[in-house]
Amino acid sequence: MGRLCSPLALELLVMTLLQGAQGSWKQAGCGQPRISGRIVGGGDAPRGRWPWQASIQHNGHHFCGGSLISAQWVVSAAHCFQLSDLVSSYRVNLGEYQLSYPSQCRISSPVSQIFVHPDYNSTWKSADIALLRLKQPVQYTNEILPVCLPGPSDSFPDNHTCWVTGWGRIDSEVSLPPPSTLQEVQVQLVGTAACNALYNIDPDPKIGRDPVKPDMFCAGYAEGQRDSCQGDSGGPLACDHNGTWLLMGIVSWGDGCGKPTRPGVYVQTVAYGEWIRGHTGSGSQASTMGNCKSETNDARPCFSSFVLLFTTLLMSL
Ligand code: ARG
Repeated sequence: MGRLCSPLALELLVMTLLQGAQGSWKQAGCGQPRISGRIVGGGDAPRGRWPWQASIQHNGHHFCGGSLISAQWVVSAAHCFQLSDLVSSYRVNLGEYQLSYPSQCRISSPVSQIFVHPDYNSTWKSADIALLRLKQPVQYTNEILPVCLPGPSDSFPDNHTCWVTGWGRIDSEVSLPPPSTLQEVQVQLVGTAACNALYNIDPDPKIGRDPVKPDMFCAGYAEGQRDSCQGDSGGPLACDHNGTWLLMGIVSWGDGCGKPTRPGVYVQTVAYGEWIRGHTGSGSQASTMGNCKSETNDARPCFSSFVLLFTTLLMSL
């Protein structure tokens, strides 16, 4: 049985102040899970490894993923939202792990506003990004923490390996079976040009040639097998940058799932940094830490919190 890492609230506060002083706009304490793990071809994620993963639900059913980026904002995909639906019919669940057995510590938050990007084009799927404002800021816990948004200079080379997570299908026509444990899979980044070259092999007439637009990139493998799928949309593609996780992509579309020469296509989060910050503000208010106990915590994350706090302090001198 674990316990809450008590220095975390203090650490978040100090990091907020320091990051403010350094002119960085990254959320305080973002991208640092406290716990160190189909989607097609993936496996069960360890509990707490992806604490920003949201399950977006409509009338009580999971239909899309999302990522917590601050205490009151979740980013997801535009195509997940039908403008005719009432905002009150959606909920954002955070701290979820197995959808069949809702975690004790999970939060199911009503949504107060949904912003679909004004340039979203349902034919080309460009600007497939949406922001959800939660009714109340959430309390962070070991299993509910924000991911970092990448800055303009944060980029990764092609073939770099990142992770995609979600409760989506495990094959084109196969739903994730109960207990619906959060799935994770490693995928390689495929740049826009390389991805168009793959999609231009035997192009699907419904998709056409060069379907990957400049605000998109792909991730997966030329041979297929590992991919996101229906129900993962809106969820995170996160890359580790020296121990801090950056939300590089948002699950958007694909031609089937896990097919050869058809890697999954993601929204390039970096392309929408200004739009996100324009709505959410720099948003570096420290969120309070909840005391919901997690089952899989040990002393190490607390120790590393202290080390992190200490080095951050030293580096700021
Ligand atoms: N559009 C899908 C959804 O709504 C996500 C598809 C991702 N497809 C892929 N092959 N990676 O859930």
